[in-house]
Amino acid sequence: MKLEQILFSQGFGARKLCRLLIARGAVEVNGNVSTDPAGDWDVTSSNGDAFVFYVEGVPWQYHAKAYLMLHKPADYECSQKPKSHPSVYTLLPAPLRTRDVQAVGRLDQDTTGMLLFSDDGQFIHRMTSPRHEVPKIYEVVTSDTVTPTQVARLLAGVVLDDSPDPVQALSCAITATGKLQLTLTSGKYHQVKRMLAAVGNHVESLHRSQIGRLPMPTDLAEGEWRWLTSGELLLASIR
Ligand code: URA
Repeated sequence: MKLEQILFSQGFGARKLCRLLIARGAVEVNGNVSTDPAGDWDVTSSNGDAFVFYVEGVPWQYHAKAYLMLHKPADYECSQKPKSHPSVYTLLPAPLRTRDVQAVGRLDQDTTGMLLFSDDGQFIHRMTSPRHEVPKIYEVVTSDTVTPTQVARLLAGVVLDDSPDPVQALSCAITATGKLQLTLTSGKYHQVKRMLAAVGNHVESLHRSQIGRLPMPTDLAEGEWRWLTSGELLLASIR
């Protein structure tokens, strides 16, 4: 692939800007400055390692499609045009934003935990479509002690105010006093909070700890992001 096309496809700006970056010696490949925009590079990997190039000294992995995870902190909004807090998109580097990666579903401003992003429309659709029933696990802290009756009602299904069809938890377990682990396969607006309200409790704090079979890595600090490996991508999309 031509170096100019590599930079363009990875979100380094318009073609003209990519050519300028290359011409002024800002791009390094294989340890050497590369000033030829038409220089041809093999970006395919035979051993699973991504092709890496440097722009202004910063390493960047080539990915034909972007799949990444972010550990969302509280007080960030998932909207591109946030109303009262910074957007989660500000936690991603500029090339990913230029590449137009989108959050795979949303978390509330006060919810923390795993958020995936991609520029693969089919993947986003599959992950967010209720038909595919990708489970998401939430760690819930409630203001009142959760009772076995509340657990039974969450498992049986509760009716929320926007639809007569009940929504139910795939699993629901009390993990400590006032703490609940809830697995959902749908992603309605404020779903966990509304489900807990429907059984007479209240969510104090909410953290998404798993998507599909992919748990939140313990070494990814709040506010940090990283590329998903192909194995993680598979784990995230299965039931
Ligand atoms: N359910 C909620 O109520 N909020 C979230 O952020 C996610 C699920």
